[in-house]
Amino acid sequence: MANKLKIGIIGSGGIAQGCHMKGYQSIPELCEMVAVCDVNPEIAKTAADKFGITKVYTDYKEMFANEEIDAVSVATPNKYHMQPTVDALTAGKHVICEKPLGINAEECRAMCRAAKDSGKILQVGLQSRFSGPARFMKEYVDAGKMGHVYFARAQALRRRGVPAWGVFIDKEKQGGGPLIDIGVHILDLTLFLMGYPKPVSASGKTWDTLGKNPELFNYWGSYDREKFTVEDFAVGMIKFEDGSVVSLESSFMANLDGDPFQTQLFGTKAGATVKPYGGDDAIQIYTEEDQQLFNLKPANVPHVESAHTAEIEAFVKAILEEKTSPVPGENGLILNAIFDALYKSSETGKEELVDVTF
Ligand SMILES: NC(=O)c1ccc[n+]([C@@H]2O[C@H](COP(=O)([O-])OP(=O)(O)OC[C@H]3O[C@@H](n4cnc5c(N)ncnc54)[C@H](O)[C@@H]3O)[C@@H](O)[C@H]2O)c1
Repeated sequence: MANKLKIGIIGSGGIAQGCHMKGYQSIPELCEMVAVCDVNPEIAKTAADKFGITKVYTDYKEMFANEEIDAVSVATPNKYHMQPTVDALTAGKHVICEKPLGINAEECRAMCRAAKDSGKILQVGLQSRFSGPARFMKEYVDAGKMGHVYFARAQALRRRGVPAWGVFIDKEKQGGGPLIDIGVHILDLTLFLMGYPKPVSASGKTWDTLGKNPELFNYWGSYDREKFTVEDFAVGMIKFEDGSVVSLESSFMANLDGDPFQTQLFGTKAGATVKPYGGDDAIQIYTEEDQQLFNLKPANVPHVESAHTAEIEAFVKAILEEKTSPVPGENGLILNAIFDALYKSSETGKEELVDVTF
């Protein structure tokens, strides 16, 4: 492999231009973007021009055939994650694929198997764990300061935040609504802090009443209520092999105060509230010493300019330094398998098993 990684982009819309390409551009000593692919040639050309890339494709297989590429970003809509990822891994390329890894666990299994067979890195685009508060808390939990974290309450809630662009309200292309779109971030952060325990079963419930109601205001623009086929609110309770439990709440629309994006950890020695993008208010720790109760606010939370850029840098460095994936495909499979169980449970009214084998 050359000293500098050669990068290709598959799907060059919002997240690719706003985060992946910016991330690669910020580390020119480690990598260079050599080609951009998008099924929409205008979008591909716009992205390529913006970042000074000359090679533009509308078919990623053609891009693989013509260009020398070590690694790719897959930043297509959810339904189109699996095939380009499997094809890229099979062609010997490392992959960072946007979240959620697939639209269901079955797709993730194929992706994880392709990564295993090829020996290449498969990273999932879950950037919250690269934020300063996440780094601080990971160290704190791993040092044993929280004791055993036996319960967590993860929330990714929006009051009136239905994305009015793209395919976010289309179940067929997205695989689901807020649960799979933003719940995925806060659940990943929560499980990352808890050491990714193995899920066993989950029960959940989803609703779509507010999202379909044309009378309601949406602060992210107007959208066609007839085309709203995802849930607007999902709740779940997930049980893990080590006895721990996570409750998850996620919404695009709900009647509440603000848009909480946070996780609360309940440990045997301490508790904590963690807001990965919470600024000065990012972490509160709740402890007891000599029968006195303390609420602590750490003063040395690392400053991370952009969690997205940090995630891209971690991907590139893992490849160059021949390390394992910093956000392995298996984590993406666990998340999708939990979502499958929650959606199924909402239909059956029963607790469902979570299958993470591949
Ligand atoms: N990590 C995050 O915080 C974050 C934020 C936003 C979006 N995302 C994820 O990124 C992905 C893309 O979202 P977006 O907002 O950038 O959408 P987008 O619509 O802006 O961009 C997706 C692009 O993929 C292209 N495309 C579709 N199928 C393709 C194919 N087979 N080959 C090549 N190009 C193809 C589309 O033409 C489009 O330009 C989604 O999976 C989404 O969940 C992640």
